Amino acid sequence: MTELISIRESSKHVDEEVRMHVWLTDKRSSGKIVFLQLRDGTAFFQGVVRKNDVSEEVFEAAKGLRQEASFYLTGTIHEDARSHFGYEIQISDLEVVSNNEGYPITNKEHGIDFLLDHRHLWLRSRRPFAIMQIRNRIFKATVDFFENEGFVKFDAPLLMHSAPEGTTELFHIDYFDHDAYLSQSGQLYGEVGAEAFGKIFTFGPTFRAEASKTRRHLTEFWMMEPEMAWMHQDESLDLQERFLSYVVGQVLEHCEYELSILGRLEHCEYELSILGRDLDKLRPAAEGNYTRLSYDDAVKMLQEAGKDFKWGDDFGAPDEAFLSERFDRPFFIVNYPVAIKPFYMKKNPENPLTYLCADVEAPEGYGEIMGGSEREADYDTLKAQIEEAGLNLDDYSWYLDLRKYGSVPHSGFGMGFERVIAWICKLDHVREAVPFPRMINRMQP
Ligand code: 4AD
Ligand code: MG
Repeated sequence: MTELISIRESSKHVDEEVRMHVWLTDKRSSGKIVFLQLRDGTAFFQGVVRKNDVSEEVFEAAKGLRQEASFYLTGTIHEDARSHFGYEIQISDLEVVSNNEGYPITNKEHGIDFLLDHRHLWLRSRRPFAIMQIRNRIFKATVDFFENEGFVKFDAPLLMHSAPEGTTELFHIDYFDHDAYLSQSGQLYGEVGAEAFGKIFTFGPTFRAEASKTRRHLTEFWMMEPEMAWMHQDESLDLQERFLSYVVGQVLEHCEYELSILGRLEHCEYELSILGRDLDKLRPAAEGNYTRLSYDDAVKMLQEAGKDFKWGDDFGAPDEAFLSERFDRPFFIVNYPVAIKPFYMKKNPENPLTYLCADVEAPEGYGEIMGGSEREADYDTLKAQIEEAGLNLDDYSWYLDLRKYGSVPHSGFGMGFERVIAWICKLDHVREAVPFPRMINRMQP
């Protein structure tokens, strides 16, 4: 029986007869030959059907295939230096499973709204395929990295009664007779995990009622949040740098094909797409050595450039873009003012107007991709900070218990998956970094 293989496995089967199950993305034919553009979820390549090599029936079936037809095929793999993928298949037989007319995403240029309305089908196209494969690689690299570092995967709840990242962006839900919120962050529960297991990371969806329509904000996004007991902020920065370098290195190592097809306009791309990914711009990020720029120095840089920015302001997207031009790789901004960060952070002993915290800024103007801090570990100080933030102490009594019993210095951070993907893939909006984006004006499909 002929072996069933995936397109991705072609290189191991050159000049062999194989079977495949595929979908048709595009077709060209002349009198005696039909070129079929095929995909199977692992890669895209070309199938060739020659009238002289196949039965009349098979040739007619090939000619009659419509976009997104699904079928089994039998054929022989050949090397093909001219094609992007490097291989093609000479088809000898095919068996159609589904072949309907009217696939809505055609070869003309479609607008982004049309494509997002058809996201359930658009995900089959090259560019979303490449982005989602890279997303998957980043997920795998994340799990591998933290496993190697001795972390435990720890699951935080999504239905919450607390508001770790401030009360303005909460999704409120009716929870029987109580108020509840969708999780903004799993961090506070991650801290529970750190005291139970030492080092943990959470990974899950988080929700923010962001009314802003920016390129960086989703209302539902995926966040990975490590939390480390017995770790101070400087060691956490070392870990963050090691982690992000590893992730970028893994993408560069394993996703060459995906990075190369990201910008290809062969099939149903849209007018906003930025073409291609300049890998030389990505490589430094895999090398580590990320600058630790203080908030104070960042403010000076902006002021010296004549920007209207006061100590105490938070950086806007143009400020972050300006700063990122000075670096060829991600960089930290450390020790932000207390007033612009959440209540759980530990104050900087050298300047109590600032926290022991840091954001990681991506290069090329992509802005904040990670944020974290050392956590306040002292019971009375934390209690005061909760009260100053105007939060209800009763909601945080369990969180304060962590400071009552066996409190230890601990630190953690959160990485927004879609932000990292948008930067690595050089997307112009985070909506393309998740299969089904949720934004203020989009809930469908
Ligand atoms: O900076 P944030 O709000 O930090 C936290 O939630 C902390 N609890 C993390 C921690 O220390 N455990 O969010 C963390 C990251 C940001 O750096 C950004 O990458 C991403 O989450 N993020 C968003 N991504 C997409 N859409 C949004 N609306 C986002 N808000 C934050
Ligand atoms: Mg932040």
